[in-house]
Amino acid sequence: MAQPIGIFDSGFGGLTVFRSIVQQLPEYDFVYLGDNARSPYGNRSFETVHEYTLQSVDWFFRQACPLVILACNTASAKALRSIQQNDLPKKDRDNRVLGVIRPTAEVIGHFSTSKSVGILGTQGTITSNSYPIEIKHFFPEIKVSQQACPMWVPLIENGEHQTAGADYFIEKNVCALMAQDENIDTILLACTHYPLIQEQIKKFLPEHIKLISQGDIVAHSLVDYLQRHPEMDERLSKNRSLSFFTTDDTKSFDMKGSVFFGQAIQSQFADVTI
Ligand code: DGL
Repeated sequence: MAQPIGIFDSGFGGLTVFRSIVQQLPEYDFVYLGDNARSPYGNRSFETVHEYTLQSVDWFFRQACPLVILACNTASAKALRSIQQNDLPKKDRDNRVLGVIRPTAEVIGHFSTSKSVGILGTQGTITSNSYPIEIKHFFPEIKVSQQACPMWVPLIENGEHQTAGADYFIEKNVCALMAQDENIDTILLACTHYPLIQEQIKKFLPEHIKLISQGDIVAHSLVDYLQRHPEMDERLSKNRSLSFFTTDDTKSFDMKGSVFFGQAIQSQFADVTI
């Protein structure tokens, strides 16, 4: 029986991470789920993000996924710890759920020479303070500045991200971040949707600033995890199959999702609330 790796996001954003993961681990089986019907998660409460994420994790377990990656910073910030510490021990002790914040925090300091890093993310990710807390563990000398960008995911999810209206909000939030610390030389796109507007973000930044997206970082970290956990690696099936599911309209998911994933996709509907 297939035992795929599950990849989760509130919507399309996780496809930017999934793309890098498939490049690194092409022989594995994967199931992607976008909770588009309830996205964006960014402005929702801890309780709601936990409830939605846990329902989705349970759905992955029913699809026989022993390992689930929350390719969503908001879900990683607001739900992962509680799922790992409180929910998993009661459900299936052998299954694992991993996020994107820790693997990113482990390496982000290496990109900065000035030791000043900026974080752009959803309201939920920024107010959780997860990045400053995690980065401090690995790089205590790094100064972290943060800026919430509450309009960016709604604009991207609605296909309005390449418009003058989107540019207004991108400039506003990018400038607010840079105003916090003139020494920032590295900016982390701490939302898996943001690689889609990378070129627009660059327009409002000095050229020397490094813009870091998480796809390759998370993919390398997963390769490393599987090498360190052969007991998990042995459970995972490897037939190069990719399946896509959405909790909303499949046609719209296929059309928009292919832009995030970089190739045509065909999704199926999933009701995670059953
Ligand atoms: N892609 C999710 C993240 O990385 C986003 C967002 C949302 O649903 O607001 O945070």
